[in-house]
Amino acid sequence: MKLFLVTLLAAFAIVGFATVPQTEQDYEAAMKKVLPAQGNLKKGIEAKDADAVKKEAAVLEAVFKLSEDFWKARKVQDATDWSIMAKQGAAEIGKLAGEGAWDKIPDAQKKVGGTCTACHTAHREKLPEGGYKIK
Ligand code: HEC
Repeated sequence: MKLFLVTLLAAFAIVGFATVPQTEQDYEAAMKKVLPAQGNLKKGIEAKDADAVKKEAAVLEAVFKLSEDFWKARKVQDATDWSIMAKQGAAEIGKLAGEGAWDKIPDAQKKVGGTCTACHTAHREKLPEGGYKIK
């Protein structure tokens, strides 16, 4: 029952994200969640805490689902593909944690981590006054 509720909540979180109109501010806000989620994810993996890992993986999945929708709407194929790859990697991490397949998680993490620099190089521009903008 508890697991069911957690799953339901995670599903709502993802749906909630996806229906929000996506401005560049929404996108930036989503990206700001990635590093803290990855930090917590790493701790969860080290502790083999499946619930914590599933929770953080769901956050990442939601961020990259938003990212996918954002770029799809703007018809930018490469960024859409990287978003999908990261989203699928995050989903895999959650699933593997649920199965206790801890030895397979590093490969799923690489799927997520392999997208960051590629997309940032192509679509993120550093502002002279600090911070970033989307290009
Ligand atoms: C599909 C493209 C894409 C992918 C994949 C992606 N990012 Fe980003 N990211 C962006 C863009 C575009 C920005 C600039 C957004 C802005 O600030 O307006 C950004 C900004 C950021 C920021 C700065 C947020 C801020 O303004 O403080 C962080 C941190 C970040 N990304 C982390 C990551 C990490 C870590 C990954 C990989 C796990 C990742 N991103 C994957 C496109 C992407």
